[in-house]
Amino acid sequence: MTETKGFKGLRVVSFESRKSDQMADLIERNGGQAILAPSMREVPLEDNTEALGFGDKLLKGEFDVVVLMTGVGTRTLFEILKTKYPFEQIKTALAKTVLASRGPKSVAVLNEVGLAPQIRAAEPNTWKDLLAALDQNGPVKGKSIAVQEYGASSKEFIDSLVQRGARVTRVPVYRWALPTDTGPLREALRLVAGGKADVALFTSATQISNALQMAQEEGIEKEFREGLSHMVVASVGPVCTQFLDEYGVPVDLEPEHPRMGNLVLEASRRSGDLLKEKRSPSKLPPPLWGRTEVGGVAIESTPHPNLPPHGGKELAESVFLKACRMEAVPYTPIWLMRQAGRYMKEYRTIREKHGFLDLCKDSDLACEVTVYAVERLGVDAAIIFSDILLILEPMGLNLEYAKGDGPVIHNPVRTPQDIDRLRTVTDPTPLHFVFDAIKKTRQALAPNIPLIGFAGAPFTLASYLIEGQGSRNYIHTKGLMYNNPEAWHSLMKKLSESLVLYLNAQIAAGAQAVQLFDSWVGCLSPSDYKQFVLPHNRSIIRRLTPGTPVIHFGTGTGALLELMKEAGGDVIGLDWRVQLDEGWKRLGNIAIQGNMDPAALFGSPESIRLEAQRILVQAAGRPGHIFNLGHGILPETPVGHVKALVDAVHELSTR
Ligand code: CP3
Repeated sequence: MTETKGFKGLRVVSFESRKSDQMADLIERNGGQAILAPSMREVPLEDNTEALGFGDKLLKGEFDVVVLMTGVGTRTLFEILKTKYPFEQIKTALAKTVLASRGPKSVAVLNEVGLAPQIRAAEPNTWKDLLAALDQNGPVKGKSIAVQEYGASSKEFIDSLVQRGARVTRVPVYRWALPTDTGPLREALRLVAGGKADVALFTSATQISNALQMAQEEGIEKEFREGLSHMVVASVGPVCTQFLDEYGVPVDLEPEHPRMGNLVLEASRRSGDLLKEKRSPSKLPPPLWGRTEVGGVAIESTPHPNLPPHGGKELAESVFLKACRMEAVPYTPIWLMRQAGRYMKEYRTIREKHGFLDLCKDSDLACEVTVYAVERLGVDAAIIFSDILLILEPMGLNLEYAKGDGPVIHNPVRTPQDIDRLRTVTDPTPLHFVFDAIKKTRQALAPNIPLIGFAGAPFTLASYLIEGQGSRNYIHTKGLMYNNPEAWHSLMKKLSESLVLYLNAQIAAGAQAVQLFDSWVGCLSPSDYKQFVLPHNRSIIRRLTPGTPVIHFGTGTGALLELMKEAGGDVIGLDWRVQLDEGWKRLGNIAIQGNMDPAALFGSPESIRLEAQRILVQAAGRPGHIFNLGHGILPETPVGHVKALVDAVHELSTR
């Protein structure tokens, strides 16, 4: 790091593939931390089987119309066909069809080889303009139409042709594919999306389209673009810059000579100043608190009149939030899962008059029940009164809490068709009662008591929506997972998308932390967890509003702890089947929540105190312990015993 104006430790993402090692070396020699995100793999022309198949049919005269969507794609298609056929034959066959060009670039490529399209889309050359031009040429009904595609597929265009009765053959053309191992690219995209990178280096035009395609598949395109807008975007040369521009990614820096070395050197010299400019407070988006929309949908969210953005100092300095951040605390904070519930007489009285769902949907009552539990017990955090299954209603499921039987879903999801029918929640409005309850509760709580929002994790939710009720062996859930992994992942994606929106809306409404309940995930083997759950939990956690602690909870997870940590969260929930000190040792540097057996509350207040002490001794006053049970309070628990636990933890842990 001899450069005076080097990267000075900035996190630099390189999208270069073939020379990625060389880029890493250059970045590090200029004082940066290299994040390698190889984004392309050259596909040999002769591997384009669809394009070669198109050649066979073209020569047999099977197409009436050939549609050329892009210039680069048309040129590549010709190169591919040349690997198998004499080009004169191809040209003659093409000349016998009607040729249609979407834009001037494909027209130019056709002209170069002595062909001219009969049909040309008008400006601005969208698929709709192209469709209009085709329609003008006479009905497409019954015609055989080949559509060349490059990069993105033109699904809407093809659907429209099919609807008009055309027989459509897609001809995808690949020159650059995604790399075989997309892991590092995906990881880098998430870092960018999460605001955890400073400089992006692009060394070829295709890198941005591949990166955006991958971000889209991961469901983080918006966040990725947002992340880039707060970074220095550097491009190796004019062609690459033009491409980035076309994809809506403005370039901050381009070296005078288009070479990798110049790119890195120039970026290392100028990124510090550029970032200062780009990240000055006036250029940053407003804080989420008080934001009026989440996921493009308006939500009403006014801060508590006495609270500055993101809550007051008292909230930020509360024992619970400090422990989430692993800061030193005067005593160990405690709250309890299901702290508002049937073990309380006052709750049962309210429940005599209101069904459970009605109670959840009445924001005044939900607020009352939440606040009452905090005041009665003297705990250090509130959890909003609600239920993990409520999100299933706007997804299209028919939910009932049958008396004494727990939740029932009358139309459980079993087949891929059922999954297709399931709606992703893209508008949080149907769940407004949860956000209303959060706003009201935030206002009603003492200013030093954080409010926890929550949601079920996708596996635990899936187990209910597939089984239709609570389950012992998860036969249908695991059956779907093993028999049809594709359908499983599509279900998990629908749930994950919905959950990100839901949790971020809870945060915007006034929750200071959120807990992801993966209560039943402990029934999975580590390898199944890794394959079927981890990527989804990770994608959710990474997309939650930065700065809000996430508690990642499960039960029976003794074999999964390291993987849960890998999936993410600021705090990991432990149950009593794992010794707290052993679990913490395995997890390393992260906050821990737990882990008393809820059944221990059936012992005497003295034995409860001893049990609390045993757990506190294992935590040994390390920063980052939040006391809780390993699972929810059981309905038969004496309230006095719960209060005794809260008092014992406060007293025994006072430093
Ligand atoms: O912790 C709190 O005080 C906040 C409220 C809360 C409830 N459910 C209220 C509730 C929370 C965080 C949940 C989460 C929840 N709900 C989970 C994950 C945590 C866990 O316990 O594993 C799960 C799996 C559910 C689904 C659910 N809701 C079940 C299985 C049941 C029936 C079993 C039971 O305990 O009654 C419910 C109903 C429910 N959710 C009640 C409460 C207070 C009892 C309903 C009633 O009043 O009759």
